[in-house]
Amino acid sequence: MSVVQTVARAPSNIALIKYMGKSDRDSNLPANGSLSLTLRDLCTITEVRRVLRGGSGMAGAAGTGTAVDEVRWIPEAFRHVAAGSVADQMEPVVLSADAIDRVTRHLRRARAACAEIFPAFGLRCHDGASYWEIRSANTFPAASGIASSASSFAALTLATAQACAADPEAFARAWDSDRELHRALARLSRQGSGSSCRSFEGPWVLWRGTDAAALDFSSPDLGAGRMPEMADLVILVESAPKAVSSSQAHQRVQTSPLWAGRPERAEGRLEKMIEALRRGELAAVSRLAWQEAWEMHSLFHTAEEPFTYWRPGTLEILNGLRPFVWPAESGTLSAQPGQVPPIVTLDAGPNVHVLVPATRAPEWRERLRSAFPAWRILEDVQGLGAEGVR
Ligand code: PMV
Repeated sequence: MSVVQTVARAPSNIALIKYMGKSDRDSNLPANGSLSLTLRDLCTITEVRRVLRGGSGMAGAAGTGTAVDEVRWIPEAFRHVAAGSVADQMEPVVLSADAIDRVTRHLRRARAACAEIFPAFGLRCHDGASYWEIRSANTFPAASGIASSASSFAALTLATAQACAADPEAFARAWDSDRELHRALARLSRQGSGSSCRSFEGPWVLWRGTDAAALDFSSPDLGAGRMPEMADLVILVESAPKAVSSSQAHQRVQTSPLWAGRPERAEGRLEKMIEALRRGELAAVSRLAWQEAWEMHSLFHTAEEPFTYWRPGTLEILNGLRPFVWPAESGTLSAQPGQVPPIVTLDAGPNVHVLVPATRAPEWRERLRSAFPAWRILEDVQGLGAEGVR
C-alpha cells in the first residue's frame, strides 16, 4: 500500500464575454464563445490524497480506468504551508450533498480520462484500485458570491491528474513546459464546470467550443496599444447563497424571448472585444463589457419565469459607475474627461467587478470605498492560471 498526496491551486476568472447557455448540456459545450481574465489570489487550493491498494499497476493508452475506487470528500478546513501567505486567509469549502456528488464524480471522470490523456505527453498513469480523499479551501470568503466552481473544478482536475501520474517529476516537467497539457486538462475540467476551463492559463483566455487557450494582449509587438496589467476590485453587495444556481441559469435563459439571436450577438461582441483588447482600447472594452453584462442579466430578467440576482445595492453601484463608462450620463461619482474608464461587469450574482489598470487600483479602491461605504471590497490582480503546489 502506498500513499500519494498532491496539492493544486487554481484561481477564479471573470468573464467579459459570458458563457451563458449551453449547446450540449452533458459535456458543457457553450452556446457561444467567451473571454475572461484569470485572477491570481482569489483561488481554491485542493488536496487529493490517494491510497493505492494492493495490485496497483501502470497504464498508458491501454489503461482501462476500471479499477474500483472509493472517493470521499472530507469537509475539513485545509491548510497547506506550501500554499504560502494565502494559507492564513483560507476558508473551508462547504458543499451540499449534490455538490459533493458532483465533485466525487468529477474525480472519477478525471482519473479515467488521465489514462487517455497522458501518453501523448510521454506520461504514465497509476491504474491501481485506490481510496481517494479530497480536501479543499478557498482564499475568498465562503459564499462571497465569487464564482467558486471555476476555481474548484480547475484545482480538483489538476490535483487528480498529479495523483494519477506514476512519475510526479515527469508530470511537473510536462506541466511547466507544455501548454498543450494545460489545454488537455482544461477540456477535462470543462466537463465538471464549464467556466473552469478558463482557469488553466492567463491572463486573458478565450474559450470556444471544446477548447480554451490564452490570448496575448500585452506583447511588445502590439506597441503602445497593448493591455496593461489589470486589477479586479469586487464590491461584495451580498454573500448569501444564490437562489438560482448557474446550472439552472444556463437552462432558464433559453426560455427568454431575448434568447433568439443571443449566441450570434455574443459572438459578434466577442470579435469586437478581441479587437479592442488587441488595440488596448480600454474605453471600447469597457462599453462592450457593460453591454454584455446587462444583456446576460436581461436574459435572467426576461426568462419564463423571470428571476434576478440584483439587489438594490447592485443597481446603486451600477448607476454610480455608469458615467465613467458612458461619460455623457451623470451619476453619483464624477468622471473626469479623458479618465481611463473602468471595466464593469457582473457574474451570475449581485456583486460588481470593477477592473482597472493595476497602477490605478489604489486610486479606484479609495474612490469606491468612499462612494459605497456599506460594502466590503475584495481585490486581486491578473494571474497565469492553475498550478501544482509542491
Ligand atoms: O461554469 P458555470 O456553469 O458555473 O457557469 C458560470 C457562468 C458565468 O459565471 C455566469 C459566466 C462566465 O462566463 O463565467
